[in-house]
Amino acid sequence: MADAKTATLIVDKDFIISEVDPRLYGSFVEHLGRAVYGGIYEKGHPTADEDGFRRDVLDLVRELRVSIVRYPGGNFVSGYNWEDGVGPLEKRPRKLELAWRTIEPNWVGVNEFARWAVKAGAAVNMSVNLGTRGPEEARALVEYCNHPSGSYWSDLRVSHGQKEPHGIKVWCLGNEMDGPWQICHKTPAEYGRAAQETAKVMRWVDPGIELVVCGSSHPRMPTFPDYDATVLDHVYDHVNYISLHSYYGNTENDTANFLAKSLEMDSYIRSVIAACDLTRARKRSRKTLNLSFDEWNVWYHSHEADRKIAPWTIAPSQVEDTYTFEDALVVGCLIITLLKHSDRVKVACIAQLVNVIAPIMTATGGPAWRQTIFYPFLHASSFGRGVALQTIASSPRYDSRDFTDVPLLESVAVHNAERGELAIFAVNRDQEGELALSCDLRSFGTLTGVIHTVLDSRNPKAANTQGSQNIKPREAAGAKLEKGRLSVRLPPLSWNVLRLSLQ
Ligand code: AHR
Repeated sequence: MADAKTATLIVDKDFIISEVDPRLYGSFVEHLGRAVYGGIYEKGHPTADEDGFRRDVLDLVRELRVSIVRYPGGNFVSGYNWEDGVGPLEKRPRKLELAWRTIEPNWVGVNEFARWAVKAGAAVNMSVNLGTRGPEEARALVEYCNHPSGSYWSDLRVSHGQKEPHGIKVWCLGNEMDGPWQICHKTPAEYGRAAQETAKVMRWVDPGIELVVCGSSHPRMPTFPDYDATVLDHVYDHVNYISLHSYYGNTENDTANFLAKSLEMDSYIRSVIAACDLTRARKRSRKTLNLSFDEWNVWYHSHEADRKIAPWTIAPSQVEDTYTFEDALVVGCLIITLLKHSDRVKVACIAQLVNVIAPIMTATGGPAWRQTIFYPFLHASSFGRGVALQTIASSPRYDSRDFTDVPLLESVAVHNAERGELAIFAVNRDQEGELALSCDLRSFGTLTGVIHTVLDSRNPKAANTQGSQNIKPREAAGAKLEKGRLSVRLPPLSWNVLRLSLQ
């Protein structure tokens, strides 16, 4: 057998990037396709609880330890009247939903979703409509959700059976307002002004909230990054985060190039940080603005099928990607990239959570199951809490159609001192061979054990479906610890978690 390629990693407990904000492990549920109806909520389903929420889905969401869930959109929010989704069910209107051309029955609204989030153990990240609506409806929603009582909107909530305020902390000022596909999309100056004034009144209702302003919909937008810079000029002093969105695909069916797309995410994050910091300098501000990467994932499998969907039905199967093994590797690389930027990326939401480009799939009336991309998220969310460390890596590199100098090894480390654990997340991008990895961990002192978990497959296109769960992690043998060094072989095309016990 030919010798494996080699890579090295130096991990030092003092090379700290940042404490990882737990909200890096967030997700997103939009009123779109079967995300809500048939996803988190399905009255009459064998596992439905007293509120109609699927217990099998809740179990999987809790397994993922999702920290925060963005709601209710997405493109949906730009035409949404939140008042339609509160109060007696029989009085709620059925409406034409223009973003996704469906019928919205309003069976689930703000109160139901907030109750679901409590059951899921997650916080709510609420979006307000800055498409067809504005500051008046946004401030009313903050009052409805967060004001204890004694005012029109808070008393209305109490009259709807929700005595306690929801205490929602993170709020998005609209969604993708730069995109011509958005209901009532806006120029950066129009949006910047609207966001600024909306932020002011929302904060006057509840000064404890945190606000996310929309940046560009993705870095390939012709108006990126000028849109972001203009918006920031208006809102810098009024918000806590700027949002980033990006989806990655493999329409060209080029695995090597697809696996390198986390480099695009890396460069996107760097550019948005630069835009924030330029604004800070221009304003002579002492405040550092952080990032909310509140839509990220692989998305391309369902594009063709979605073109054939008939309009105006309730919860059609829409935007349902069946994920492959190589998609899971890309998701792993994207999570590693987010962790590497955890000093500035404080909130991140894998988009979405159930059925719609999601780690969790369901059959209506049937079971729920884990897609391939479930696993890297699960591992990072379970073991990637603590302090992210800047590793010094040396790895063989390759060129692909869009990228040069792509390292075969993508990795990051997270130190959890409380648990006495160091986790190294590593992807071997090589399709052909193992990567022999040697890690210098001497700064941690005595290492008492290592568990090596691997997600790998000989078939990059293998998927998990209702009937078959082909792709799942396994424990691998062979990792060796000697005098503060870890030697391990990473299988070709693999996601790896190395968990080291520290004394
Ligand atoms: O997540 C699906 C859609 O992608 C969202 O509605 C929108 O914000 C983005 O373009």
